[in-house]
Amino acid sequence: MRNPVGLKFSPLHPVLAAECKGVDISAPISPEVADAIHDGMDQYGVLVFRQGKALTTEQQLRFTRSLGELEGLYTKIEAEAGARLETPLLSDISNLTPGNELLPAEDRKRQFQMGNRLWHSDSSYKKIPAKYSALCAHVIPPSGGETEFADMRAAWDMLDDVMKEKVKGLTAEHSRIFSKGTLGFQFTEKELHDFVPMPQPLVRTHPRTGRHSLYLSSHAGRIVGWPLPEALMLLRELTEHATQREFVYRHVWRVGDVVMWDNRVTMHRAQPYDDLKYPRDMRRSTLTSGAPALAYTETVPDLATAA
Ligand code: OGA
Ligand code: MN
Repeated sequence: MRNPVGLKFSPLHPVLAAECKGVDISAPISPEVADAIHDGMDQYGVLVFRQGKALTTEQQLRFTRSLGELEGLYTKIEAEAGARLETPLLSDISNLTPGNELLPAEDRKRQFQMGNRLWHSDSSYKKIPAKYSALCAHVIPPSGGETEFADMRAAWDMLDDVMKEKVKGLTAEHSRIFSKGTLGFQFTEKELHDFVPMPQPLVRTHPRTGRHSLYLSSHAGRIVGWPLPEALMLLRELTEHATQREFVYRHVWRVGDVVMWDNRVTMHRAQPYDDLKYPRDMRRSTLTSGAPALAYTETVPDLATAA
C-alpha cells in the first residue's frame, strides 16, 4: 500500500527489512517524505533503496542529512596510507587503497575492517552512538560480500521472562579493542589509550515506538559489576539468541543499492568474499542518535511490565 506521499514499503523478510519504492533519493526529498521514511525505519529497522546507480558523495550526504544530523568525526586507527574518499563524512567501507588498488593481506586497514564480519551495531563504542547508517554500493564482488541484519527487537521479545529480568538494567562496556581484539588485531599504545570503553545499556527502548530491543555488539566486552567470564558468557549467549536465522535478513547487493538500518534496533555483519582478488567499494553515511543511550533508557518506567 502506498502512503500519502507515494512511498511504498515491500517487506523483504517476515520480521524486519523492506524495500522502499516510490522515491528518488538522489534528488532532494520533502520533509513529508522524510517523515514517511522515518515511519518505515520505525517499522522495519532496515530499508533498501534500489537506485540502480550509486549516489554521488553530495547526493548521499544530502539524503542522509535530510533525515537527521551526521555523526561527528572520531579517532581512527593509525594506518599508513591516507584517505581514499574526498570527504571524511563518508566512511570508506572498501578493500581499496587511496589509489584504488586492492589492499594487501597484511594491511592494517584491511585487518581492522575484518571486524565488520562480526555482528555489531555501528559506533556502539561511542558515548553517543549511531542512529541510522546508510551504505551505498559502488562496486561489488562477483560472489560473497552480502550483509546480514538481525532484529534486536524480535530478539528481546523472544527472550524468556527470566532472561528479560536478568538483563534489564545491565550496562555493558563497548570498545573496538574488544571487537577487533577477538580477531587478533594488534593495537598501538595510542589506540589502546584512545579507545576507552563506553557504557551502554543492554536493553534499549525506542523513543518513538516504545519497543524494547537488546543492545548488543561485538564491541561489547564487559558488563559493569560482573566478573569477566560470566559477562562474556552472557553476551555470547544473548548474541547467539539474537542472531538466530529467523531474526536475520541477508541483503544481496546490486550496484546502486542504498541500505539504511537503525543501529538502535539491529545488528549487522559483512559476509566474506575474496577480497584479495576482487574490489568491493561501499560508502557509508551515519546519523548520530543525538544523546547517550543510557539517558533515555533510564527514563523508561518499568521494562518488566511492558511486553
Ligand atoms: C558498515 C558495515 C558491512 C558490510 O558499513 O558499517 O558494517 O557488509 N558494513 O560492508
Ligand atoms: Mn558496521
